[in-house]
Amino acid sequence: MTDSLIPDHSISKTVDALTAKTMSNHAPKILVLYGSLRPESYSKKAALEAVRILESFGAEVKVYDPADLPVFDRENYEHPKVKELHELSLWSEGMVWCSPEIHGNLTSVIKNQIDWIPLSLGSVRPTQGRTLAVMQVSGGSQSFNAVNSLRMLGRWMRMFTIPNQSSVAMAWKEFNDDGTMKDSAYRERIVDVMEELFRMTILLRDHTDLLTHRFSENKDAYENSDVK
Ligand SMILES: Cc1cc2nc3c(=O)[nH]c(=O)nc-3n(C[C@H](O)[C@H](O)[C@H](O)COP(=O)(O)O)c2cc1C
Repeated sequence: MTDSLIPDHSISKTVDALTAKTMSNHAPKILVLYGSLRPESYSKKAALEAVRILESFGAEVKVYDPADLPVFDRENYEHPKVKELHELSLWSEGMVWCSPEIHGNLTSVIKNQIDWIPLSLGSVRPTQGRTLAVMQVSGGSQSFNAVNSLRMLGRWMRMFTIPNQSSVAMAWKEFNDDGTMKDSAYRERIVDVMEELFRMTILLRDHTDLLTHRFSENKDAYENSDVK
């Protein structure tokens, strides 16, 4: 019964769908979230380094300031900081999430921002189909606990998390007095990650409808509709 609802997945149909659209050539729109409220935050500094790199490639980048965002309560959706976050998410075609590692994991500050972004806002989905790059900074030796958790959250938000990632160990050693990042293998890795994000965003952004199509969801919509 349900097999008749499976869309035609032939190669020719898929190739036709992917090539039907001309590639957009506007600047990729990237939203950057970071996970600390500290004025001297290294995760913010690393995120701002990523911003400078993305802008040098030609991306349009917006950075969300998490200060004054209320703790997620599933009530306060009219709060200006919540609305700002929703508008920025809807605007974006890709995101960067940069968290410090605290107690072996990402921070409540970054998680709170992600918790406030709903999977769907009416008929639109603020994260689904966007690209995502994950980054972390830590005070100790290099680890990947925060980026692994961010990657899991990216899956939950139905985003395309790129393979490359950045983890800056002993972050307190890596920045100049003006907040820019010292030349190092860690900085080169951030360039690599942003290059991959920039290209993947351009590649995928015109195809999110096709790439996020889910048979099971359309099947439910079909079965619950009057049109049979
Ligand atoms: C309570 C606490 C727990 C921490 N836990 C870890 C940890 O598990 N691993 C680590 O490498 N660094 C840890 N750190 C160091 C932080 O990752 C480091 O200070 C980082 O720069 C904080 O982020 P921020 O500069 O963006 O505020 C911890 C720091 C604090 C205050």
